[in-house]
Amino acid sequence: MKDKIQIFDTTLRDGEQVPGCKLNASQKLIIAKELENLGVDIIEAGFPVSSPGDFESVELISKNIKETIVCGLTRSVEKDIRVAAEALKHAVRPRIHTGIGTSETHIKYKFNSTREGVLERAVNAVKYAKSFVHDVEFYAEDAGRTDNEFLAKVCSAVVAAGATVLNIPDTTGYCLPHEYGEKIKYLYENVEGIHKAVLSTHCHNDLGLATANSMAGILNGARQVEVTINGIGERAGNTALEEVAMIVQHRMGDRFYTDIQSKELNRLSKLVSESMSMPVQANKAIVGVNAFAHSSGIHQDGVIKNTLTYEIIDPASVGAEKSLILLTARSGRAALAFRAKEVGYNLYKDQLDIAYEKFIDLADRKKEINDEDLGTLLKGLFPAMIA
Ligand code: KIV
Ligand code: ZN
Repeated sequence: MKDKIQIFDTTLRDGEQVPGCKLNASQKLIIAKELENLGVDIIEAGFPVSSPGDFESVELISKNIKETIVCGLTRSVEKDIRVAAEALKHAVRPRIHTGIGTSETHIKYKFNSTREGVLERAVNAVKYAKSFVHDVEFYAEDAGRTDNEFLAKVCSAVVAAGATVLNIPDTTGYCLPHEYGEKIKYLYENVEGIHKAVLSTHCHNDLGLATANSMAGILNGARQVEVTINGIGERAGNTALEEVAMIVQHRMGDRFYTDIQSKELNRLSKLVSESMSMPVQANKAIVGVNAFAHSSGIHQDGVIKNTLTYEIIDPASVGAEKSLILLTARSGRAALAFRAKEVGYNLYKDQLDIAYEKFIDLADRKKEINDEDLGTLLKGLFPAMIA
């Protein structure tokens, strides 16, 4: 029996916090509908108290999303929770996400408080949120740097107060995978009433470990993962949805599954990137333009013979274009023959040798040779051949 991993998407909240990524309510609704279509389980639609625009977005999404849970973020502040409940009141499946910092750094510098003070606020916030909705997720901000024993105490108290999900954010992207995994295991084994709640990961990418940490969380008992499309989010970003989905599908499919329709991943990535004017890095796993592009001669030769030599994922399974054989100064004869055939020239060996010499000369001057360049070069060399 496989365990389902719930996908909690926070592109519209944590992702949208990125400077320059602000969306209006109708843009957010378009993305929310696509996220539902993609198969996410929870959409964090915004932080309603933060601005009238965010309130409007959460309200609009709540009215229009029928299957997926719609979640609104709050601090452990009564007004935040009241406003979130109001914004979510039309949601078929509303969730309030409330919480407070639990690390010594947050307790001392953010709240000028004590462990007892923070614990009390956490419990009160969960109880207050429960007076509006059944589904209440609690986040222990900076859990990554929180002492495990105190974290378990806070988690036990909020579960007793009615929290249905325990979010354990590595807010600063501080943990190493084994540390984060051990933290989740510790909570799984030490939080009282843990069977009444789901443990959730929320890992930031400050050290490039967000996805690795999230996977360590899953392997140690987390059954919800908080992610964003393209891994966007505060500073270095969040865990990328597309990475988690494909790791679960390709490497952990014997034990876990998600409901993500992976063929939609590249379309969603483009939609989010274009709506937010946030380009995706070319070498981004799964959705970068180079994710299935091969440019060195050795790799190209292998891929032309069989894509399995250098690809672990079928590009079609994530909605990407077919594997690309790029023509650069590092390309070999096999790639040139392959691309020449694509533009209509089936070259004999001696023709290929002639063409290769000219091609390398051109490729040394130009970064990449496109179809047009190649057509011009071949036409010049072999005018009698009709492409
Ligand atoms: O990174 C974080 O701790 C958060 C919480 C508000 C959930 O985004
Ligand atoms: Zn976050």
